[in-house]
Amino acid sequence: MPAQIIDGKATAQRLRDRMAAEVAALKAKGVAPGLGFVLAGENPASKAYIRMKKKACEEIGIASFDYKLPAETTQTQLLALVDQLNHDPKVDGYIVQLPLPPHIDEEAVIAAVEPGKDVDCFHPVNVGKLSIGDTDGFFPCTPYGVVVLLLENGYEVAGKHVVIVGRSNIVGKPLANLLVQKRKGANATVTICHTGTKDIAHHTRQADIVVASAGHPNTVTAEMIRDGAIVVDVGINRVDDPAAPNGYRLVGDVDYDGVREKAGAITPVPGGVGPMTIAMLLQNCLKAAARRAAR
Ligand code: GUN
Repeated sequence: MPAQIIDGKATAQRLRDRMAAEVAALKAKGVAPGLGFVLAGENPASKAYIRMKKKACEEIGIASFDYKLPAETTQTQLLALVDQLNHDPKVDGYIVQLPLPPHIDEEAVIAAVEPGKDVDCFHPVNVGKLSIGDTDGFFPCTPYGVVVLLLENGYEVAGKHVVIVGRSNIVGKPLANLLVQKRKGANATVTICHTGTKDIAHHTRQADIVVASAGHPNTVTAEMIRDGAIVVDVGINRVDDPAAPNGYRLVGDVDYDGVREKAGAITPVPGGVGPMTIAMLLQNCLKAAARRAAR
């Protein structure tokens, strides 16, 4: 039987509907949530992501503030903007869209973001809080989007063996940190595979849940999963397709057509994890705004 399709678009819509009510309640208390977007350069994928994030803000009533810098921006100029945003009371949180131009030290920029406004959860303080299970910080958007997508669709992670393919700081490592927490909605057994892993398929075949976040198409194929496994595809890759309107199409890290025949459930690309990432960004912004309302 072909896999159930886990619909991230519909799940994110349900979450946004709930969040719209939270935004209205905050506004009634005189707090208008605001989210800032910093983009340095002209990366087309980054521009597309920011467009989608701003559209989601608009839909639920979060104000968005745009900061566009040329690709030649110096590190000093970017750090000055970060400092300005750290002190701007109408900006509850902000993201510095990655990747940054190659002459800029990404780590230094991330470290300069005020942790209380770090809605991406990239700052070492928030990464540290995540790893010790301190829920006071933010939850990282894509990893938490994966967890919420599973839970909202009735796929329990507690007691399951989750095999993550990819060890990035944005997805693989923080997802492992979230899933091993001793709390409701977590409590999984986690394996991380990466380019140094000897036989990735050996590990993925043991998994109840496989998460593909390697950044390459066809990283996870049908023979790498067991019958009925749940497969979450975090990848977004542009592949050339002369027949497509833009000359490319988006695919994930999973061989979707092959894996769909064997998996119990699978997330599509697009329409799977992507919309959930954006929903979690909005949620983090509301967390920051709620803190402002409580002050
Ligand atoms: N680049 C790719 N994903 C992300 C993300 O979640 N946040 C930011 N700031 N940049 C990204």
